[in-house]
Amino acid sequence: MTKVRKAVIPVAGWGTRFLPATKAMPKEMLTVVDKPVVQYALEEARAAGIEEFIFVTGRGKQTIENHFDRSFELEDVLEEKGRLEDLELLKDITPPEGCVMYTRQARRRGLGHAVLCAKSAVGDEPFAVLLPDDIVFGYNERVPLKEMVETFEEHQKSVVLCMEVAKENTKRYGILDTGGTVPQGDVLPVQGFVEKPAEGKAPSNMAVMGRYVFTPEVWALLEKTEPGAGGEIQLTDAMETLAKEQGFMGQVLDGIRLDCGDRPGFVKANIFMALNHPELKGEIASFIKELDIDNPQASSLEKVK
Ligand code: UTP
Repeated sequence: MTKVRKAVIPVAGWGTRFLPATKAMPKEMLTVVDKPVVQYALEEARAAGIEEFIFVTGRGKQTIENHFDRSFELEDVLEEKGRLEDLELLKDITPPEGCVMYTRQARRRGLGHAVLCAKSAVGDEPFAVLLPDDIVFGYNERVPLKEMVETFEEHQKSVVLCMEVAKENTKRYGILDTGGTVPQGDVLPVQGFVEKPAEGKAPSNMAVMGRYVFTPEVWALLEKTEPGAGGEIQLTDAMETLAKEQGFMGQVLDGIRLDCGDRPGFVKANIFMALNHPELKGEIASFIKELDIDNPQASSLEKVK
């Protein structure tokens, strides 16, 4: 049986929805509480048993490489100060040497193209893709990507993470065509995909979340995919063909998904994670409770402290 050993993490996007924050800083380095969003994705991949990590980067994304590299100066400082917990925290961020690769997408030509840029680093084997915009957690410490890898191992078909969304929101997502089937446990077969369907045209309410496991046949399909709107090569087009030719499985997320790809989602993710953080929960909860929601300026900082 072929194991899923490698993960591709595309981080070459412009992040225009966060301007001006992302003018000189990668959007994947924006922090949700105390970690950059890209670190959540890497941690999930490691927890899923992935051994090699391939980042698809671009111009201006060097801080991502630095973040996952060791910083010996900082480690020395923390050691001298006896801050051993912080030292461990730093060491934990860095994957084992030789296990991280960076390849560049020279032109931002869409997600499908970004994934294709990792072709020679992955080779002829199944692989995972994680979009750092989505932070996902399974309930009871379950790791969504780990479950997807298990589903892949059982069915030997590509797998996408999905979640039911409100009917009026289907137009914002890639939507699964499930042919009317209901999930068996947390898994369901997928017949096809529709990217951002028009109102009333969604084949189901199951939306794609940013986690995928692909069979290597996706490479040839991505190479054949013609650029669509804005000259972008869509991942969904290759997924649609893969579903028709090989079959595809949907892994239903039994947990939480935080969409950090736009400003409201990003702010909500910060509030949510702060309320789940043992050291911050109390202070943030009382801050929110005491805020005058209709007139925030009327809540003096002194009052809400
Ligand atoms: P988005 O679709 O959110 O695009 O990318 P974006 O350019 O990053 O953001 P906006 O829309 O301008 O605000 C989803 C993921 O795919 C990567 C992004 O870095 C992000 O992790 N991506 C997107 C690429 O690596 N290359 C691309 O050409 C497009």
